[in-house]
Formats: sequence, structure tokens, C-alpha cells
Amino acid sequence: MIKDIKNICCIGAGYVGGPTMAVIADKCPEIIVNVVDINAKRIEAWNNSSIEKLPIYEPGLGEIIKRRRGKNLHFSTDIKKFISEADMIFISVNTPTKTKGIGAGKASDLKWVESSTRQISKYANGSTIVVEKSTLPVRTAQTIKKILELSSSKNSQKSFSVLSNPEFLSEGTAINDLVNPDRVLIGGDDKNAIEKLIKIYLNWVQKEKIITTNLWSSELSKLIANAFLAQRISSINSITALCESTGADVKEVSQAIKTDHRIGKFFLNPSPGFGGSCFKKDILNLVYICDHYGLHEVSSYWQKVVDINDWQSKRILEIIVEKLFGNIAGKKISILGFSFKANTNDTRESPAIRICKGLLEEGCNLSIYDPKVSVDQIDKDLECPPLIKLNDSNKLKRWELANSVIDSATDSHAIVIVTEWDEFQDLNWELISQKMRSPSWLFDTRSICNIEEAKLYGINIWRIGAAENIFY
Ligand code: NAD
Ligand code: UGA
Repeated sequence: MIKDIKNICCIGAGYVGGPTMAVIADKCPEIIVNVVDINAKRIEAWNNSSIEKLPIYEPGLGEIIKRRRGKNLHFSTDIKKFISEADMIFISVNTPTKTKGIGAGKASDLKWVESSTRQISKYANGSTIVVEKSTLPVRTAQTIKKILELSSSKNSQKSFSVLSNPEFLSEGTAINDLVNPDRVLIGGDDKNAIEKLIKIYLNWVQKEKIITTNLWSSELSKLIANAFLAQRISSINSITALCESTGADVKEVSQAIKTDHRIGKFFLNPSPGFGGSCFKKDILNLVYICDHYGLHEVSSYWQKVVDINDWQSKRILEIIVEKLFGNIAGKKISILGFSFKANTNDTRESPAIRICKGLLEEGCNLSIYDPKVSVDQIDKDLECPPLIKLNDSNKLKRWELANSVIDSATDSHAIVIVTEWDEFQDLNWELISQKMRSPSWLFDTRSICNIEEAKLYGINIWRIGAAENIFY
């Protein structure tokens, strides 16, 4: 019999572990929630007295941390202690694509899942429910169970139940997604353990929204949800090119198809491609699994979603170079937005990285402005350090971090909108046009700018999927 849940440990204090546990601690004040991580710097940032210095930027997160931290929510590197005290342990570690060995470039790298499972098997006491929160290939629970069984067979005081409870939050809206989820999915075969987890969610989620399935359906549903979302983006992005060639406008096409309730209104915004740590890796993992089971037609179907995504950012890069007379060497280009989407400081797989690297290869100078991404992060992503001043001609690859849109636009030949931050929707085009070089260009890869106003001030416009691109 599993005792009532009083103490939770979450392994992994990242974009999922941090916000998810903060919400559980907020909604269940009677439960102690300890979030542990091997990354001491990250834990230190979670414990920073200044809420602005939390390791991740997520609207609404700071308030919850202020309310619960030090009360029933704790961040620590003492993995052994907090695993040993827990009744329920969430595994929220990273599961990136393997970079070498068998399945490199497609399969998920499960080394962090395995190492956390081994930590659990070593330090857990009594009956423990282990919950997969990370996104995992279907049937990973089998491996987790096997590792844990080795430990329980040696020690009769230990027993484990493994559940799958994938996370569907999106960055930038994580707190709202956690507080008002579309559904909570729990997969498992131990009814008692499932009931314990349901009981936690019932503190704020309606019963009808909690779906239970077998372990494999739950694991697979997470991959499929991401694959379907990404597929919609690749579908609309493939149509952007067709619109540009035919005189149709993707904004109008998107609006027209969205009104069909069977198609639905979400995830049809054109873009330079989807980014984020998960869509690409989860689809590649799906491709790998399909190939593993000999389902090659299925795997090539999903592979195309990733191919269109890579093609879209490459296509945009080529358009920028072509419009600037096929030569951008020595020209200053303003990049507005570097995170993979608005309202996050996360840059993983951001289309900005692909576009900026390509532009730098062509020899231009980039002035990058993003409201939340740090200079160190961009340095890591572009694999070259910034220059203090762009006019240092000794360096081949050049970029600087600008303090504002105007700072970035000054003396630039072109502005490229890469992320859909709110502040880019209503820019002062009169002032910007005075600061830019002539002829000046705006490349709106998200179709969010006030194009009519920018046109008034003589700026050349390229808008993604636009019927009419204006040239002066
Ligand atoms: P992340 O890289 O931000 O965080 C993972 C953390 O786990 C890191 O801080 C790392 O140091 C820590 N870790 C790794 N091994 C450890 C170990 N053995 N012991 C202690 N700590 C360890 O990753 P994330 O974005 O939070 O994603 C985590 C999982 O959740 C992934 O499987 C991802 O696919 C899934 N997911 C992510 C999101 C998202 O929006 N980022 C949404 C839903 C699901
Ligand atoms: C996505 C899913 O939406 C979450 O449900 C899931 O939990 C998460 O992945 C995960 O497993 O990690 P996230 O990547 O945080 O969430 O953000 P999204 O809002 O899905 O955006 C992903 C990318 O698609 C962004 O680059 C965004 O700009 C792009 N996008 C989104 C478009 O290009 N067009 C759209 O219409 C919507």
C-alpha cells in the first residue's frame, strides 16, 4: 500500500521541472516539493533573492517563487537527501537528440534519464512512485522499471511504481498552461499509484480533464502531440512560398482556413520555422522509432515536417542576401528577436541561430536586439564572441548586442524581424527610417509589423507569404 504523498522530489530544475514544481507547490501547500539538479549554477540562480535572476524567464513564475520558495518549495543540489525523503519522484531531465553513436541525429539521448533512474534506485526508501515527466521514446518506462527492479530485488524495503505523466506546457505561457491545462495525461498500470497522482492534480484541475491510459499510449501521445503541432507549422510555412509565387497572401489564406472549425485556429502562423528544444528532437525521435519498427513510409512522412522547417529558414536567408543586391559583406543588418518565440529567454533551436549564422558567413555585421536573451547565450549559439564595436575590421564574423530597436537599426541596411515580441508590432517607422541606410529593407519573417506605416517612410518590404512585396 502506497502512503499519502507528502514529499515530492523533482530531478531536473529546467524549463519543465522549475515551473511545474512551482505550480504543484503553490496549489498543494501541504506537500513539500524539492527540486534537485546536478547543475549547481542553475540551483544557485533558482535560489537568488532577486526574482529577475531566476534561470528562466517565464511570465508569472516569479510571483509563485516569491510565494512558495523557502516554505514548501526548495531548490537544491543535494540529490541523495531529497530522493531518499520523497514519496513521489518526477524525472524532468533533458532528453536531447543523440549526437554520436547508434541513432545519432535522430534517437533521443537517454543518458540523463538512466543516470537519474540509477540515483533513484540507489537512494529511494520504502514505496516510491516514479513519474516520467520528461518526453521519452515509447517504451522507455520498461527500461526505467528494469533498473529499479534490480534495486528492489536486492532490498525488500524498497518498491517502485512507474507512471508516465508527460508535460504539455509551452514556454512563454507555461504558468497558464499548468494552471489551466487542456488535459493531464497519466499512463500506468498501478491503479493505486495513478490515484495518488490524480489526487495531486485534483487540487486545481477538473476531474474530466484528467485522462488515464496505459504507459505506452501516454509516452507515445506526447510525441504525437508535438508532431501534429509542428506539422501544422510546416504546412502553413510550405504555403508561404506558394503565396509569394502566386500573389496570394498567407495571412488571408490562414484566416480563411482557420474559420473551418475542423481545421481550427491555432498553430497556423507563418514563421521562419519552428524552434524550441522539443519539436525537432521529438519528431526525429518519432522518425527513428518508425524506422526501428520497419515503418519507413511513416518515418519519411514525419521527416518531411523537419525538412520543410530547415528549408524555410534557409529560403529566408537566401531571400535577404538576394534583395540586398546579392552582397551583404560589410553591411550592417539589424536582427530583432533571438529567442525561439516571444516571452521566453530560451534560444534552443531558434531559427535566429540558423539565419544569423548564415548571414555572418556572408560577411555582414549583425546588430542583435532581444528583450530577454543575454549576450553570453548568443555568444554560445553563434559560436563566436561579440565585438564591442562593429567597426573592428580585424574579425571575420561580427555581431554586437544592441540595447534597443533604434540602436540596432541605426546605420543598418536591413531589419530582420525573427521573433514575434509584442514591442516589434508597433515600431516607430518614421524614426527608424531616418536612422537606417538607404535603400533600407524590412524583412518581416513573422508577418507582425505595421507594414503600411513602414512603406510610408520609403522602406522596402519583404513580408513572409505576402501577396505584394514593395520595392522602391
Ligand atoms: P532542461 O535542459 O532545461 O532541464 C533539464 C535539467 O535536468 C538540467 O538542468 C540538467 O542539469 C538536469 N539533469 C540532467 N541529469 C540530471 C541528473 N542525473 N540529476 C539531476 N539533474 C539532472 O530541459 P527542459 O526544457 O526542462 O526539458 C526537460 C524534459 O521535458 C525534456 O524531456 C523535454 O523534452 C520535456 N519537455 C520540455 C518542455 C519545454 O517547454 N522545455 C515542455 C514539455 C516537455
Ligand atoms: C511546444 C508545445 O506547444 C508544447 O505543448 C510542448 O509541451 C512543448 O513544445 C515541448 O514538448 O517542449 P514550445 O516549444 O514551448 O511548446 O512553444 P510553441 O508555442 O509550441 O512554439 C514552438 C515553435 O513554433 C516556436 O518557434 C514558435 O514561434 C513556432 N510557431 C508556433 C510557429 O512558427 N507558428 C505557430 O503558429 C505557432
